[in-house]
Amino acid sequence: MLRHIFWKDDALFLLDQRLLPFKKVYITCRTLDDVVEAIRGMAIRGAPLIGIVAAYGCAIGVREVLSTKKRITERDIENIWKRLEMTRPTAVNLFWALKRMRSALDGSRRKEGVFDSLLKEAITIHVEDVEKNRMLSLFGAELIEDGDTILTHCNAGALATGGYGTALGVIRAAYESGKRIRVIATETRPYLQGARLTAWELYNDGIEVELVPDNHVGFLFSRRQIEKVIVGADRIALNGDTANKIGTFTIALCAYHAKIPFYVAAPISTFDGDTKDGSSIPIEERKGDEVKYIYNTPITLDEIKSRYYSFDITPSRYITSFITEKGIVVRPFKRYIKLLHR
Ligand code: MRU
Repeated sequence: MLRHIFWKDDALFLLDQRLLPFKKVYITCRTLDDVVEAIRGMAIRGAPLIGIVAAYGCAIGVREVLSTKKRITERDIENIWKRLEMTRPTAVNLFWALKRMRSALDGSRRKEGVFDSLLKEAITIHVEDVEKNRMLSLFGAELIEDGDTILTHCNAGALATGGYGTALGVIRAAYESGKRIRVIATETRPYLQGARLTAWELYNDGIEVELVPDNHVGFLFSRRQIEKVIVGADRIALNGDTANKIGTFTIALCAYHAKIPFYVAAPISTFDGDTKDGSSIPIEERKGDEVKYIYNTPITLDEIKSRYYSFDITPSRYITSFITEKGIVVRPFKRYIKLLHR
């Protein structure tokens, strides 16, 4: 697997995920503007990766200010953090990472080398994310049986995280332990994360994968062609309601109806201890135009209205369990999710 995020010399390098799998082009981020644009413009995506990139963004933003004056003010800091906060509202990992970077900044502000401390913290967040993914994947792999066909939606793989992945991490760990696995990847309109990223990641790893249009799910369940569903998450409320890529809710409903286990794999940084239930999770609404074009080619008339909510909420009753780096979270979700934050 190509390195999709790394720090080299004095810049952050990000593999532009909009061009995958056909072109491998790196974006170089040297300024706060570069980082904000990479997140908002979907060059990078996936909840944990958004948090990691934002963490590097804090360091880059602070360095930029300090290149023009001696001391950084509270106003400068608020401006940097606010700009990063406003990139994408749903993934709570973004806010989690910004909070952690703020603590690192407060701890180092009076000393020399603020930028170095922030860069170190960003790298730590990055490295820890990979470790958490590996850990949760080992727990999750226990739920997979030899010969399972697993459906996943969007991309919750190495590309969506610091590395290894959450939902795809579980699949990888099961495969690495010798289980024979087949994966059904939904294409995930309109950004096609399933077709372009998930299928590509699995294919590169030698894991059998088959791509289906998003509208196939109910039918595949009715034909008993799927044993399990595993998806990632962008934010999980205290009661277990889960925000993930639009279409996840529909898949969960179908799985519930067909009595197929529906698992959500996510690090604890995706659990939002301040949000009671799904009704208060902010849902990103992107430009309707993103639905009207595929690779810059219009698929409808210009005058047709369109709408694109990037995420939906799956009510917790449709979720079988959560796979985290501390283990499997079972019902009653509220009680156990509270414990995760201790
Ligand atoms: O719009 P995206 O591509 O950022 O959406 C990504 C997802 O919905 C993922 O499933 C989620 O972030 C989990 S990634 C480990």
